[in-house]
Amino acid sequence: MATAKAHTNIALVKYWGKKDQELIIPQTDSLSLTLDEFYTTTRVNFDQELTADQVMINGQQLAGPAAAKVTHLLDIVRQRSGLSARARVDSQNHVPTAAGLASSASAFAALAGAASRAAGLQLSRRELSRLARRGSGSATRSIYGGLVEWQAGHDDQTSYALPIMEQVDFGIEMIAILVDTHKKKVSSRFGMQQSVSTSPYYRVWPEVVARDMAAVKKAIAAQDIDQIGAIAEENALRMHALTLSADPGFTYFDSDTITAMTIVRELRENGVNCYFTMDAGPNVKVIYDQVNRKAVYSTLAAQFGTDRLVVAKPGPGIEIWND
Ligand code: DP6
Repeated sequence: MATAKAHTNIALVKYWGKKDQELIIPQTDSLSLTLDEFYTTTRVNFDQELTADQVMINGQQLAGPAAAKVTHLLDIVRQRSGLSARARVDSQNHVPTAAGLASSASAFAALAGAASRAAGLQLSRRELSRLARRGSGSATRSIYGGLVEWQAGHDDQTSYALPIMEQVDFGIEMIAILVDTHKKKVSSRFGMQQSVSTSPYYRVWPEVVARDMAAVKKAIAAQDIDQIGAIAEENALRMHALTLSADPGFTYFDSDTITAMTIVRELRENGVNCYFTMDAGPNVKVIYDQVNRKAVYSTLAAQFGTDRLVVAKPGPGIEIWND
């Protein structure tokens, strides 16, 4: 039996599209910040008595395609370790509110860590990153803390994450604005595939990412939060342009997303530097230097209320222990 704790991450340069669907090899590199406030703790126990994998998330039994994704990752672990036993998986998502920030990144990173340890495998962080990738692309990066790069590579061996700066010693922070309206969403898996196969703009996306990756790494080395934020904001808008330009076009934004984007731009016009990024849902994450926290927080709170805001700092990499 083993347990792992992994934090979620938010991409500053997004992963949006796969070269290989089965192995989850991305079209491009990507870069993220691991966050302290959002994490998943997962315990895995392989048990000969079980006839099927049993997956509980926050006390609820998982079924259908979500459970099948867990079994898929467990099958990879069983194959590598030679185990045949089914597993009991017990997972807790620690998110400050129930609204819409549960993440496949922390979930699959924690599952990879706990399942491999419980099966007796001693994996390096790189191997763990590759294993987590088989569950969900963004999980590749959640093995490490701080600022993390996922190098696309070209096959299972070469596609993994590397830490850029595990201990972030400058004041970058994010506020997550929970604007989830619980409407049915387009999964990132489906949405990115639609973008790859139908957006006429997709062909320039790899160039956009190559340029943004080089620029953001320079900005990180210079600890230039404004530059990091500006690159992240532009990259996010261009990623979302790939959904709008797909056939049929779609968007993850709702009216609150647009409102939040407008507020961030207005804050900037008033001399408070902050920047937005959005993923495969309507929530907005605002990036800023901690010296601006009060100004950013109070302005967002006036619009959305404090219940819908979560302040997050850079978080740590995965922890794994035997129970
Ligand atoms: C917009 O990692 O959820 O958050 O690999 O199909 O499981 P799968 O997709 P997922 O996609 C994340 C997309 C994103 C950008 C990012 O995290 O880089």
